[in-house]
Amino acid sequence: MKSAEEKIELLRKQLHQHNYNYYVLSQPVISDYEFDKLMHELLELEEQYPNLQDPNSPTVRVGSDISNDFDQISHHYPMLSLQNTYSEAEVADFYNRVKKSLKEDFEIVCELKYDGTSISLIYEEGKLKRAVTRGDGRRGDDVTQNVRTIRNVPLLLKGENIPEYLELRGEILLPWSSFDAINKEREEQEEAPFANPRNAASGTLKLLNSRVVASRRLESYIYNMLGEELPTNSHYDNLTIARSWGLNVSDTLKRCTSLDEVFEFINYWNLERKNLPVTTDGIVIKVDSLIQQRNLGNTSKFPRWSIAYKFNAEQAITRLESVAYQVGRTGAITPVANLEPVLLSGTTVRRASLYNEDAINSLDLHIGDMVYVEKGGEIIPKITAVDIDAREQSLMLGDKVRFANICPDCGAKLIRNEDEAAHYCPNSEGCPTQIKGRIEHFVTRKAMNITIGPESINLLFDKGLINDAADLYQLKLEDLVNLDRWGETSAKNLLQSIEKSKSVSYERVLHAIGIRYVGETVAQKLAHAFPNIELLSKATFEQLTSVEEIGDRIANSLLDYFSNTKFKEFIDRLKMHGVQFELSDDLIASMSDKLEGMTFVISGTFNLHSRDEYKEMILKNGGKNSGSVSKKTDFILAGNNMGPTKLEKANKLGIKVIDEIAFLEMLS
Ligand code: IVH
Repeated sequence: MKSAEEKIELLRKQLHQHNYNYYVLSQPVISDYEFDKLMHELLELEEQYPNLQDPNSPTVRVGSDISNDFDQISHHYPMLSLQNTYSEAEVADFYNRVKKSLKEDFEIVCELKYDGTSISLIYEEGKLKRAVTRGDGRRGDDVTQNVRTIRNVPLLLKGENIPEYLELRGEILLPWSSFDAINKEREEQEEAPFANPRNAASGTLKLLNSRVVASRRLESYIYNMLGEELPTNSHYDNLTIARSWGLNVSDTLKRCTSLDEVFEFINYWNLERKNLPVTTDGIVIKVDSLIQQRNLGNTSKFPRWSIAYKFNAEQAITRLESVAYQVGRTGAITPVANLEPVLLSGTTVRRASLYNEDAINSLDLHIGDMVYVEKGGEIIPKITAVDIDAREQSLMLGDKVRFANICPDCGAKLIRNEDEAAHYCPNSEGCPTQIKGRIEHFVTRKAMNITIGPESINLLFDKGLINDAADLYQLKLEDLVNLDRWGETSAKNLLQSIEKSKSVSYERVLHAIGIRYVGETVAQKLAHAFPNIELLSKATFEQLTSVEEIGDRIANSLLDYFSNTKFKEFIDRLKMHGVQFELSDDLIASMSDKLEGMTFVISGTFNLHSRDEYKEMILKNGGKNSGSVSKKTDFILAGNNMGPTKLEKANKLGIKVIDEIAFLEMLS
C-alpha cells in the first residue's frame, strides 16, 4: 500500500505530463473524464493532507497555452474556469446551494458546453479591437489577426446602444466537416492527425500564418458578455441582444425556473448533441441575474453562480484480438488494435488507434484483454483502459503486447529516434510499402498530377516495371498494352499525363519527391530560398534553419535525404527525363537580394498588400520574417493598429519601425 505522500507525488507527476500532452503537444493520451478523475483524486488527497500542499501542484495551476509568438495581453476581467461534475446529484446540490444562499427567486440559464478553445473578444465603439486566448486566465495571447479570419466573428457590431467597451467571451470551434478534411490532409503529409476538433482548433488559433487559419473554417460561439455598461441585468437577455448585434449566440440556450427543467435540458441534449455540427461535452448551468451572480461571487478558481455538467464519453467494452502495425510512405509505423466487433454510438467498432509504444506500455496491454473503447471527440475510437479484474478470470489471456521490432512488410529492424514517440522502418529503398507509398504520393493531384491509381501502381511494381517514381518516365507503350485489363487508350492516357508532368513547377516537384516533413508550404518556402536543387542539396543546417518555418526537424530530414546517394541518383534520373528542378524565369525575375541579411517583423493590417504578400516579398528579396520582436529584428513593418506590446518593445530596443510605403521604396 502506498503512503498518501507517494500517491500525491504520483498523481502530480501524471497530471503534469497529461497537461503537457494536452497543452503543448496537442496530443492527449487520456480522455477528459479520466483526467478529471485524476484531478479529483488529487484535490481530495490535498484537502485531506494540507501539510502536503505544493504551490506547483497541477491543482493550483491550470495548464497555460501561452506560446512565444504572440504578444501577451492582461485580461481586463480574469477568465475563470468552471466547476465540473459528472453527477446529477451534484447539479442538484449546486441548485440548492444557490437557493439557500440567495434566499429569493432566481432563474437559471442552461447552455451547451462547447468543446473548443476559449476566446475573449474585445469590442470598442462596436469595432473588434482584440481577441485574446485564455492563457493562464490572467494573461493570454493576442490572436487578433487569426480571429479576424473567422467568418462568424463580426468585425463591426450592428445595432443601437452598443456600449463603448465590451468583452464577449466564447468558444472557438472547428466543425466536424472541417476537422475531417484537415486530418485527411495531415495524414497524406504523414503528419500526426489532430486527436480531436478541440486540439485542432487551439492549434489552428496559434498558427503564425493567418492565411492557413482562414482556410480552416473555424467558428465562434459566444456565451458571456462583460463590461461596465451592459444593456440589461439578465445574462439571457444580454446574449439575445448580442445575437442581434451580429454575434453567433446559439439559439439552444434556455431559461429555466426549476431543477426539473434543468434535467430535462440535460437529458434532451445528451442525445440530441450527436446531430450538432460541432463537439459539445456537457451543459453549462448559470444563474441568470447579474446582480445575483455578483452576490454569489467567486471562489479563487470558479464562479459560485455556475457549474458545468459533463456528459460521459461513450464507452464500450470488448476483447483485444490482436495488434497490427501499418507502414506509411515515410516508414512511420502505426499500431492498430483489432477488436472483437462492438457497437459504440451507433457504429460497429472493429479497430482502435494505439498511437505508439508509450501508449501501449502505459496500458499494460495483453492480447485477449477486455478493453474499454471510447469515442469522445474523436472519429477513430481509442482504448482508454483495461479491465484488470476480468484478466484474472480470463482463460483467453495471451501475451503482453510488445511493440513490433521488425517491419511487418519488409522485415527490417525498426528504429526509434531519441525524443520521438514513433518507430520507423529504416529500409526506405527496399520496403515495398514505402516504395509504393512514395510513388502514390508523387502522382497525387497536388504533386505531379499523373493519373494513375494505387492498384495500377501495385501492378506495375509487381511486374517489375517501376521501382521508383523516376521509372514512370521510362515506361513504353508496349510495356503497358500487354498488361491485364489495360488497353491502348488507357496506356496512351497514362503516358500523356506522365509527359505533361514534366512542366510541373519546381515547388511542386519538391513536394512530390516525398522528403519527410516537406509538405506543400514547406516545399514552396524552400524553393524560394534555394531556387534550384543543387543549392538546396548543398545547403547547410544553418542555411536551412534560417528560412522561415524551417526548424531543426525539417532541416535534419533534408540533410538526411540529400546524404543518401540513392535519393541523389533518383533526382538525377528525374532531371534527365526533363522534370523541373529550378524556379521558372518569371519567378526569379521578381526576386532580388535587396533585403539580404535583414530580419523583419510584420505587425498590424495593411492597405496596399496583404500581410502574406509582404511576407512573400521579404522572402523573395532575400530577407527573413520573424514572429516576435527581439534584438535580432532590423525592421518592423507596421500597419494599422500594431500591437502595443510590440511597439513598446521596438522602442526599447531602438528598432526602426517603417510603414508599407517606406518598405515598398526599399524594393524599388
Ligand atoms: S462560461 C466564468 N459557458 O468551458 C464562466 N463556458 O470549463 C466562464 N465553455 O473556459 C465560462 N461552453 O472555454 C461558459 N456555454 C459556456 C461554455 C463554456 C464552453 C468552456 C469555456 C470555459 C470552460 C470552463
